[in-house]
Amino acid sequence: MKHYTLSAPAKFILFGEHAVVFGHPAIAMPVLDLRAHVNLIIDDTIDDPFIDAHDLGCQAYINRADPPLAVRHMIEAIRLVPKLGGFLLPQKGWSLSIESDIPIGRGLGSSAAISVALIKAMYTLSHTSLTTEILIYLSYELEKYHHGTPSGVDNTVISIEKPVLYQRGKDIMPLDSELFYFVIGDTGISKSTAKIVAEVAERFNLHTHEYSTIFQAIGNISATGYDCLKSGDHHRLGDLMNRNHLLLRQIGVSADELEHLIAVALNHGALGAKLCGAGKGGCMVCVAEDESAAHRISDALLLNGAVNCYVSRTLVRS
Ligand code: PMV
Repeated sequence: MKHYTLSAPAKFILFGEHAVVFGHPAIAMPVLDLRAHVNLIIDDTIDDPFIDAHDLGCQAYINRADPPLAVRHMIEAIRLVPKLGGFLLPQKGWSLSIESDIPIGRGLGSSAAISVALIKAMYTLSHTSLTTEILIYLSYELEKYHHGTPSGVDNTVISIEKPVLYQRGKDIMPLDSELFYFVIGDTGISKSTAKIVAEVAERFNLHTHEYSTIFQAIGNISATGYDCLKSGDHHRLGDLMNRNHLLLRQIGVSADELEHLIAVALNHGALGAKLCGAGKGGCMVCVAEDESAAHRISDALLLNGAVNCYVSRTLVRS
């Protein structure tokens, strides 16, 4: 019997959510300590491969028809990836179990992280080499299955595990950031990215000029944010986060719970804060002056309604 663990990180969007769907740049950051894990077990005694989705309390056989709804998307992924990748999975002798620390539906990339870890597991199982380009391509195909018309930012940052400036149709620009401490606060409210993206698209169609101007402004913030990450300008980065949040509020994707946590963070010394991801719930993120400030803000958020908090630091070259 052999056992492999494949994993992928969570992510948050620092700048540019929603605008990225309309072709503007966004910056996304991996959260390296918060991960989804796929355990691949290779065991000759397994005749009927199965998947054990631990967090969902659901087990299902991979080769049988009508899998339970809770794991249908994972089973579809397991069937689709070999087809797209041009390889075959062994008919028997293996199983997968999935465990994720990433909360679901909160804009932290839970579905993309599970997809990326699953793809890695299938390539491991079939002894096929996997490049980052293929990982990004396949995880995008799986994201389409979950979200309809994703921009591609989530699966890209989760595949490369580095901060990235992402713009549809352009080369991916990974970036070496200076040291920053971010605090992510979770409102505990799950939301549907596909639904919120569709609502924004409806409003865009009604107010095209106004929304185009807002998305352009957000895209400019992402471009300036890229320079701030590289130069280590904490105060300017914080200011950009505040400005990005105001623009997100204007397109109607904030929520009282997000506004509340953002105010708590700013009142406890955050240099800037914004919602992150699709909005209407999910998470906010703020930038802290240093590590101890980050933990102070995290404590304050937890005392004032956040159901989870994550302190995430950028990895810096030594
Ligand atoms: O799934 P979330 O909450 O991280 O949202 C993704 C970011 C959006 O820009 C709203 C959608 C997308 O596909 O980029």
